[in-house]
Amino acid sequence: MKKISPSILNVNPNHFVEYVNQLVKWGVSNVHYDVMDKIFVPNDALQLSEIKEIKNSCLPHIMDIHLMVKDVKKYYSMYKNVGDILTFHYEVLDNDLFNWIIREAKKDNIKIGIAINPETNILEVFNFIKEKIHDISLVLIMSVHPGKGGQKFIDDSLQKVSFIKNEFNKMNIRNIIIQIDGGINDLTIKKSFDAGVDLAVVGSYLVKNFSKNVIDNLLSSDLLEK
Ligand code: DX5
Ligand code: ZN
Repeated sequence: MKKISPSILNVNPNHFVEYVNQLVKWGVSNVHYDVMDKIFVPNDALQLSEIKEIKNSCLPHIMDIHLMVKDVKKYYSMYKNVGDILTFHYEVLDNDLFNWIIREAKKDNIKIGIAINPETNILEVFNFIKEKIHDISLVLIMSVHPGKGGQKFIDDSLQKVSFIKNEFNKMNIRNIIIQIDGGINDLTIKKSFDAGVDLAVVGSYLVKNFSKNVIDNLLSSDLLEK
């Protein structure tokens, strides 16, 4: 089933709890939390204290945490007790670091995702992850340059989605979530679902048009024109 994971990056922090609770009441199961370190990307985003507050105050939901950070070990330790899925960027990983994360994640019972920047070669990433495929729960294709909300969707991302989807099909892999993040609206979500996305991050489009109806339209867009 195709799903959305709304990003609260562009929500007024005073309304985080209210926004997330409303999403859960409307039947949304996943919420996407953006964390930035001012190093991997020049900006700052949600703080640990804010995400913990949401976890403690909001109705239960799957917390998918997108860590746009360089210091993987530090941020893993900070977020391991908060998120359900921790997604780190391929661009900061090497084999040793990846193996470290997987060992820790097994102990801590956390799911791990790998995010891929628009300029990163998908074949290179796929070669890196294919031996580790059973340790990964999610692959996140960035459809904008990470760092801020409200940017325009990069169409080339769809080819990456199709490539990954196709490789997973060949390997008979059905349980790794393909996520897309950046510039998702009522039009780009349809193209993304068609290309093979399972979970679409929706940030500013939903913040600007916050209603159950808009969510229903986003989710029904994978049924249109078929
Ligand atoms: C960007 C973040 C996104 C952002 C998406 O670096 O990773 O999750 O919130 O926002 P929109 O949907 O506005 O592009
Ligand atoms: Zn994100």
